[in-house]
Amino acid sequence: MMDWTDRHCRYFHRLLSREVLLYTEMVTAPALVRGGAVHLLDHDAAEQPVALQLGGSDPGELAEAARLGAEAGYEEINLNVGCPSDRVQSGTFGAVLMTDAPLVARCVAAMEAAVRAEITVKCRIGVDDQEPEVILPDFLERIMDAGVGRVTVHARKAWLKGLSPKENRDIPPLDYDLVRRMKERFPALHLSVNGGIDSLEAAEGFLRDGLDGVMIGRAAYHNPAAILAEADRRIFGQGPESDADPVSVAIQMKDYIARHVAAGGRVHQVTRHMLGLFAGKPGARHWRRHLSDAAHLSEAGPEIIDEALARRAEAASAAA
Ligand SMILES: Cc1cc2nc3c(=O)[nH]c(=O)nc-3n(C[C@H](O)[C@H](O)[C@H](O)COP(=O)(O)O)c2cc1C
Repeated sequence: MMDWTDRHCRYFHRLLSREVLLYTEMVTAPALVRGGAVHLLDHDAAEQPVALQLGGSDPGELAEAARLGAEAGYEEINLNVGCPSDRVQSGTFGAVLMTDAPLVARCVAAMEAAVRAEITVKCRIGVDDQEPEVILPDFLERIMDAGVGRVTVHARKAWLKGLSPKENRDIPPLDYDLVRRMKERFPALHLSVNGGIDSLEAAEGFLRDGLDGVMIGRAAYHNPAAILAEADRRIFGQGPESDADPVSVAIQMKDYIARHVAAGGRVHQVTRHMLGLFAGKPGARHWRRHLSDAAHLSEAGPEIIDEALARRAEAASAAA
Protein backbone atom coordinates (compact mmCIF):
# COMPACT_ATOMS: atom_id res chain seq x y z
CA MET A 1 0.00 0.00 0.00
CA MET A 2 1.48 3.29 -1.17
CA ASP A 3 3.12 5.28 1.64
CA TRP A 4 2.12 2.60 4.18
CA THR A 5 3.83 -0.73 3.57
CA ASP A 6 7.33 0.65 3.19
CA ARG A 7 10.31 -1.34 4.40
CA HIS A 8 10.00 -0.11 8.00
CA CYS A 9 6.36 -1.14 8.17
CA ARG A 10 7.12 -4.56 6.70
CA TYR A 11 9.96 -5.18 9.17
CA PHE A 12 7.56 -4.40 12.02
CA HIS A 13 4.78 -6.57 10.57
CA ARG A 14 7.17 -9.45 10.10
CA LEU A 15 7.91 -9.44 13.85
CA LEU A 16 4.17 -9.90 14.42
CA SER A 17 3.81 -12.82 12.00
CA ARG A 18 6.35 -15.23 10.53
CA GLU A 19 3.93 -16.67 8.00
CA VAL A 20 1.80 -14.00 6.34
CA LEU A 21 2.85 -12.84 2.91
CA LEU A 22 3.73 -9.14 2.86
CA TYR A 23 3.61 -6.81 -0.14
CA THR A 24 5.69 -3.79 -1.02
CA GLU A 25 4.11 -0.52 -2.04
CA MET A 26 3.51 -0.38 -5.77
CA VAL A 27 6.71 0.51 -7.61
CA THR A 28 6.23 1.65 -11.18
CA ALA A 29 8.19 -0.03 -13.94
CA PRO A 30 9.06 3.34 -15.56
CA ALA A 31 10.55 4.57 -12.25
CA LEU A 32 12.79 1.52 -12.09
CA VAL A 33 13.69 1.14 -15.73
CA ARG A 34 13.68 4.70 -17.07
CA GLY A 35 14.24 6.54 -13.79
CA GLY A 36 16.89 4.18 -12.43
CA ALA A 37 15.22 4.34 -9.01
CA VAL A 38 16.44 0.91 -7.95
CA HIS A 39 16.65 2.07 -4.31
CA LEU A 40 12.85 1.53 -4.33
CA LEU A 41 13.66 -2.19 -4.22
CA ASP A 42 15.66 -1.95 -0.99
CA HIS A 43 14.43 -4.26 1.73
CA ASP A 44 15.73 -6.31 4.64
CA ALA A 45 16.09 -10.07 4.18
CA ALA A 46 14.16 -10.46 7.45
CA GLU A 47 11.00 -9.19 5.71
CA GLN A 48 10.71 -12.32 3.54
CA PRO A 49 8.39 -13.65 2.29
CA VAL A 50 7.60 -10.34 0.62
CA ALA A 51 6.15 -9.78 -2.84
CA LEU A 52 7.20 -6.82 -4.97
CA GLN A 53 4.25 -5.09 -6.58
CA LEU A 54 4.86 -3.44 -9.95
CA GLY A 55 2.73 -0.99 -11.88
CA GLY A 56 3.03 -0.58 -15.61
CA SER A 57 1.60 -1.59 -18.97
CA ASP A 58 4.56 -1.95 -21.29
CA PRO A 59 5.53 -5.62 -21.57
CA GLY A 60 9.21 -4.96 -22.23
CA GLU A 61 9.52 -2.43 -19.44
CA LEU A 62 7.68 -4.68 -16.98
CA ALA A 63 9.92 -7.60 -17.93
CA GLU A 64 12.98 -5.48 -17.20
CA ALA A 65 11.47 -4.22 -13.91
CA ALA A 66 10.67 -7.82 -12.92
CA ARG A 67 14.27 -8.79 -13.66
CA LEU A 68 15.54 -5.98 -11.42
CA GLY A 69 13.11 -7.10 -8.70
CA ALA A 70 14.18 -10.73 -8.91
CA GLU A 71 17.82 -9.67 -8.82
CA ALA A 72 17.07 -7.67 -5.65
CA GLY A 73 15.77 -10.88 -4.02
CA TYR A 74 11.99 -10.84 -4.48
CA GLU A 75 10.56 -14.30 -5.14
CA GLU A 76 7.12 -13.05 -6.12
CA ILE A 77 6.39 -10.17 -8.46
CA ASN A 78 2.82 -8.92 -8.52
CA LEU A 79 1.27 -6.81 -11.26
CA ASN A 80 -1.12 -4.09 -10.11
CA VAL A 81 -4.37 -4.10 -12.10
CA GLY A 82 -6.41 -2.43 -9.37
CA CYS A 83 -5.15 1.04 -8.61
CA PRO A 84 -7.62 3.73 -9.74
CA SER A 85 -5.63 6.92 -9.17
CA ASP A 86 -5.44 9.59 -11.88
CA ARG A 87 -1.70 9.50 -12.02
CA VAL A 88 -1.81 5.82 -12.67
CA GLN A 89 -4.62 6.08 -15.23
CA SER A 90 -2.63 8.61 -17.21
CA GLY A 91 0.25 6.16 -17.51
CA THR A 92 -2.23 3.42 -18.58
CA PHE A 93 -1.75 1.15 -15.69
CA GLY A 94 -3.61 -0.02 -12.64
CA ALA A 95 -7.36 -0.73 -12.81
CA VAL A 96 -7.85 0.68 -16.31
CA LEU A 97 -6.03 -2.45 -17.56
CA MET A 98 -9.16 -4.45 -16.67
CA THR A 99 -10.40 -3.17 -20.06
CA ASP A 100 -7.47 -4.70 -21.94
CA ALA A 101 -7.00 -8.32 -20.85
CA PRO A 102 -4.91 -9.21 -23.94
CA LEU A 103 -2.40 -6.48 -22.99
CA VAL A 104 -2.25 -7.73 -19.38
CA ALA A 105 -1.66 -11.25 -20.75
CA ARG A 106 1.24 -9.95 -22.85
CA CYS A 107 2.67 -8.11 -19.83
CA VAL A 108 2.61 -11.12 -17.55
CA ALA A 109 3.94 -13.42 -20.29
CA ALA A 110 6.90 -11.07 -20.78
CA MET A 111 7.51 -10.97 -17.02
CA GLU A 112 7.27 -14.77 -16.80
CA ALA A 113 9.82 -15.12 -19.58
CA ALA A 114 12.25 -12.74 -17.88
CA VAL A 115 12.46 -14.27 -14.38
CA ARG A 116 12.08 -17.45 -12.36
CA ALA A 117 10.23 -15.56 -9.60
CA GLU A 118 6.49 -16.23 -9.51
CA ILE A 119 4.39 -13.67 -11.37
CA THR A 120 1.04 -12.91 -9.75
CA VAL A 121 -1.74 -10.38 -10.39
CA LYS A 122 -3.95 -8.20 -8.19
CA CYS A 123 -7.07 -7.01 -9.95
CA ARG A 124 -10.58 -5.64 -9.48
CA ILE A 125 -13.81 -7.33 -10.61
CA GLY A 126 -14.12 -4.71 -13.36
CA VAL A 127 -14.24 -0.99 -14.00
CA ASP A 128 -17.01 1.50 -14.82
CA ASP A 129 -19.79 -0.09 -16.88
CA GLN A 130 -18.10 -3.44 -17.42
CA GLU A 131 -20.14 -6.53 -16.51
CA PRO A 132 -17.99 -8.32 -13.92
CA GLU A 133 -19.80 -11.65 -14.50
CA VAL A 134 -18.69 -11.50 -18.11
CA ILE A 135 -15.31 -9.82 -18.12
CA LEU A 136 -13.74 -11.27 -14.94
CA PRO A 137 -13.76 -14.93 -16.11
CA ASP A 138 -12.38 -13.86 -19.47
CA PHE A 139 -9.67 -11.76 -17.78
CA LEU A 140 -8.68 -14.63 -15.46
CA GLU A 141 -8.65 -17.15 -18.28
CA ARG A 142 -6.36 -15.00 -20.39
CA ILE A 143 -3.82 -14.38 -17.65
CA MET A 144 -3.90 -18.06 -16.65
CA ASP A 145 -3.16 -18.96 -20.28
CA ALA A 146 -0.21 -16.58 -20.05
CA GLY A 147 1.16 -18.55 -17.08
CA VAL A 148 -0.29 -16.86 -13.97
CA GLY A 149 -1.28 -19.32 -11.24
CA ARG A 150 -2.09 -16.96 -8.38
CA VAL A 151 -4.41 -13.95 -8.34
CA THR A 152 -5.87 -11.65 -5.69
CA VAL A 153 -9.20 -10.05 -6.50
CA HIS A 154 -10.29 -6.84 -4.78
CA ALA A 155 -13.97 -7.73 -4.85
CA ARG A 156 -15.34 -4.40 -6.07
CA LYS A 157 -15.24 -2.39 -9.25
CA ALA A 158 -13.10 0.70 -9.65
CA TRP A 159 -15.10 3.64 -10.96
CA LEU A 160 -12.52 5.53 -12.93
CA LYS A 161 -14.54 8.70 -13.38
CA GLY A 162 -15.85 10.71 -10.49
CA LEU A 163 -14.46 8.86 -7.47
CA SER A 164 -11.21 9.56 -5.66
CA PRO A 165 -8.82 6.65 -5.03
CA LYS A 166 -9.98 6.64 -1.41
CA GLU A 167 -13.68 6.51 -2.39
CA ASN A 168 -12.83 3.70 -4.78
CA ARG A 169 -11.80 1.60 -1.79
CA ASP A 170 -15.19 1.96 -0.10
CA ILE A 171 -18.01 3.06 -2.38
CA PRO A 172 -18.32 0.54 -5.21
CA PRO A 173 -20.17 -2.40 -3.63
CA LEU A 174 -18.31 -5.57 -2.70
CA ASP A 175 -19.24 -8.78 -4.52
CA TYR A 176 -17.56 -11.59 -2.62
CA ASP A 177 -19.91 -14.13 -4.18
CA LEU A 178 -18.51 -13.46 -7.61
CA VAL A 179 -15.02 -14.21 -6.30
CA ARG A 180 -16.27 -17.46 -4.75
CA ARG A 181 -17.85 -18.40 -8.09
CA MET A 182 -14.54 -17.72 -9.88
CA LYS A 183 -12.87 -20.23 -7.55
CA GLU A 184 -15.53 -22.81 -8.47
CA ARG A 185 -15.05 -22.07 -12.14
CA PHE A 186 -11.23 -22.16 -12.03
CA PRO A 187 -10.38 -24.65 -9.27
CA ALA A 188 -6.71 -24.84 -10.29
CA LEU A 189 -6.22 -21.09 -9.86
CA HIS A 190 -4.90 -20.00 -6.44
CA LEU A 191 -7.41 -17.29 -5.68
CA SER A 192 -7.32 -14.78 -2.81
CA VAL A 193 -10.04 -12.33 -1.93
CA ASN A 194 -9.50 -8.74 -0.80
CA GLY A 195 -11.64 -5.77 0.22
CA GLY A 196 -13.28 -4.81 3.51
CA ILE A 197 -12.07 -7.86 5.45
CA ASP A 198 -11.25 -6.76 8.97
CA SER A 199 -10.81 -9.81 11.21
CA LEU A 200 -9.29 -13.26 11.31
CA GLU A 201 -12.82 -14.66 11.85
CA ALA A 202 -13.89 -13.20 8.53
CA ALA A 203 -10.71 -14.52 6.87
CA GLU A 204 -11.39 -18.02 8.25
CA GLY A 205 -14.89 -17.86 6.74
CA PHE A 206 -13.52 -17.21 3.25
CA LEU A 207 -11.00 -20.02 3.60
CA ARG A 208 -13.80 -22.38 4.69
CA ASP A 209 -15.70 -21.33 1.56
CA GLY A 210 -12.83 -22.70 -0.52
CA LEU A 211 -10.84 -19.58 -1.31
CA ASP A 212 -7.08 -20.07 -1.15
CA GLY A 213 -6.09 -16.84 0.52
CA VAL A 214 -7.29 -13.61 2.05
CA MET A 215 -5.54 -10.27 1.63
CA ILE A 216 -6.12 -7.77 4.41
CA GLY A 217 -5.00 -4.18 3.88
CA ARG A 218 -6.28 -1.36 6.05
CA ALA A 219 -7.32 -3.48 9.04
CA ALA A 220 -3.87 -5.08 9.22
CA TYR A 221 -2.24 -1.67 9.12
CA HIS A 222 -4.49 0.01 11.68
CA ASN A 223 -4.75 -2.95 14.06
CA PRO A 224 -1.72 -5.10 13.36
CA ALA A 225 -1.90 -7.04 16.61
CA ALA A 226 -5.47 -8.23 15.97
CA ILE A 227 -4.73 -9.37 12.43
CA LEU A 228 -1.08 -10.40 12.42
CA ALA A 229 -0.16 -11.51 15.93
CA GLU A 230 -2.56 -14.49 15.91
CA ALA A 231 -2.43 -15.32 12.21
CA ASP A 232 0.40 -17.86 12.45
CA ARG A 233 -1.58 -20.00 14.90
CA ARG A 234 -5.11 -19.48 13.64
CA ILE A 235 -4.55 -19.43 9.91
CA PHE A 236 -1.26 -21.26 9.41
CA GLY A 237 -1.70 -23.95 12.09
CA GLN A 238 1.41 -23.12 14.13
CA GLY A 239 1.54 -23.83 17.86
CA PRO A 240 0.19 -21.48 20.56
CA GLU A 241 3.74 -20.19 21.18
CA SER A 242 3.62 -18.58 17.73
CA ASP A 243 1.31 -15.80 18.94
CA ALA A 244 3.41 -12.65 18.99
CA ASP A 245 3.32 -10.51 22.13
CA PRO A 246 2.88 -6.84 21.12
CA VAL A 247 5.00 -5.56 24.04
CA SER A 248 7.89 -7.79 23.09
CA VAL A 249 7.54 -6.77 19.41
CA ALA A 250 7.69 -3.11 20.46
CA ILE A 251 10.88 -3.80 22.41
CA GLN A 252 12.41 -5.69 19.49
CA MET A 253 11.79 -2.67 17.26
CA LYS A 254 14.20 -0.61 19.40
CA ASP A 255 17.23 -2.21 17.76
CA TYR A 256 15.80 -1.58 14.33
CA ILE A 257 15.10 2.05 15.21
CA ALA A 258 18.61 2.48 16.61
CA ARG A 259 20.09 1.16 13.35
CA HIS A 260 17.82 3.41 11.31
CA VAL A 261 18.80 6.50 13.33
CA ALA A 262 22.50 5.58 13.15
CA ALA A 263 22.14 5.41 9.36
CA GLY A 264 20.77 8.98 9.33
CA GLY A 265 17.02 8.17 9.41
CA ARG A 266 14.32 9.69 11.62
CA VAL A 267 12.54 7.78 14.38
CA HIS A 268 9.18 8.96 13.10
CA GLN A 269 9.71 7.14 9.78
CA VAL A 270 9.52 3.86 11.69
CA THR A 271 7.24 4.61 14.62
CA ARG A 272 4.46 6.10 12.45
CA HIS A 273 3.65 2.52 11.42
CA MET A 274 3.47 1.35 15.03
CA LEU A 275 0.74 3.66 16.33
CA GLY A 276 -1.97 0.98 16.11
CA LEU A 277 -0.03 -1.71 17.97
CA PHE A 278 -2.33 -1.56 21.00
CA ALA A 279 -5.51 -0.57 19.13
CA GLY A 280 -8.59 -1.50 21.12
CA LYS A 281 -6.54 -2.29 24.25
CA PRO A 282 -6.32 -0.30 27.49
CA GLY A 283 -3.76 2.50 27.27
CA ALA A 284 -3.76 2.52 23.44
CA ARG A 285 -4.31 6.28 23.31
CA HIS A 286 -1.36 6.99 25.60
CA TRP A 287 0.90 4.76 23.51
CA ARG A 288 -0.19 6.45 20.31
CA ARG A 289 0.05 9.96 21.68
CA HIS A 290 3.53 9.56 23.17
CA LEU A 291 4.89 7.92 20.03
CA SER A 292 3.51 10.57 17.72
CA ASP A 293 4.55 13.54 19.89
CA ALA A 294 8.01 12.33 20.92
CA ALA A 295 9.05 10.89 17.56
CA HIS A 296 9.09 14.34 15.98
CA LEU A 297 11.67 15.74 18.41
CA SER A 298 15.03 16.02 16.72
CA GLU A 299 16.86 14.23 19.55
CA ALA A 300 14.37 11.32 19.66
CA GLY A 301 15.83 7.81 19.74
CA PRO A 302 14.65 4.27 20.43
CA GLU A 303 14.05 5.09 24.11
CA ILE A 304 10.71 6.62 23.14
CA ILE A 305 9.42 3.05 22.80
CA ASP A 306 10.16 2.39 26.51
CA GLU A 307 8.54 5.69 27.44
CA ALA A 308 5.43 4.99 25.39
CA LEU A 309 5.17 1.47 26.81
CA ALA A 310 5.41 2.90 30.34
CA ARG A 311 2.68 5.50 29.64
CA ARG A 312 0.49 2.78 28.20
CA ALA A 313 1.02 0.45 31.17
CA GLU A 314 0.31 3.25 33.66
CA ALA A 315 -2.91 4.20 31.88
CA ALA A 316 -3.97 0.56 31.62
CA SER A 317 -3.44 -0.09 35.33
CA ALA A 318 -5.21 3.13 36.28
CA ALA A 319 -8.19 1.98 34.21
CA ALA A 320 -8.21 -1.54 35.72
C1 LIG B 1 -3.04 4.04 1.70
C2 LIG B 1 -3.36 2.94 0.74
C3 LIG B 1 -2.49 2.65 -0.30
C4 LIG B 1 -2.75 1.61 -1.19
N1 LIG B 1 -1.82 1.31 -2.15
C5 LIG B 1 -2.01 0.21 -2.90
C6 LIG B 1 -0.99 -0.25 -3.79
O1 LIG B 1 0.11 0.34 -3.88
N2 LIG B 1 -1.24 -1.36 -4.53
C7 LIG B 1 -2.42 -2.05 -4.43
O2 LIG B 1 -2.59 -3.07 -5.09
N3 LIG B 1 -3.39 -1.66 -3.61
C8 LIG B 1 -3.20 -0.54 -2.84
N4 LIG B 1 -4.18 -0.17 -1.96
C9 LIG B 1 -5.46 -0.94 -1.93
C10 LIG B 1 -5.35 -2.08 -0.91
O3 LIG B 1 -4.33 -2.97 -1.29
C11 LIG B 1 -6.66 -2.87 -0.86
O4 LIG B 1 -6.94 -3.43 -2.11
C12 LIG B 1 -7.85 -2.01 -0.45
O5 LIG B 1 -7.52 -1.13 0.62
C13 LIG B 1 -9.02 -2.91 -0.01
O6 LIG B 1 -8.62 -3.82 0.99
P1 LIG B 1 -8.83 -3.53 2.56
O7 LIG B 1 -10.31 -3.23 2.75
O8 LIG B 1 -8.41 -4.81 3.24
O9 LIG B 1 -7.98 -2.36 2.91
C14 LIG B 1 -3.94 0.86 -1.06
C15 LIG B 1 -4.82 1.15 -0.02
C16 LIG B 1 -4.54 2.18 0.86
C17 LIG B 1 -5.50 2.45 2.00
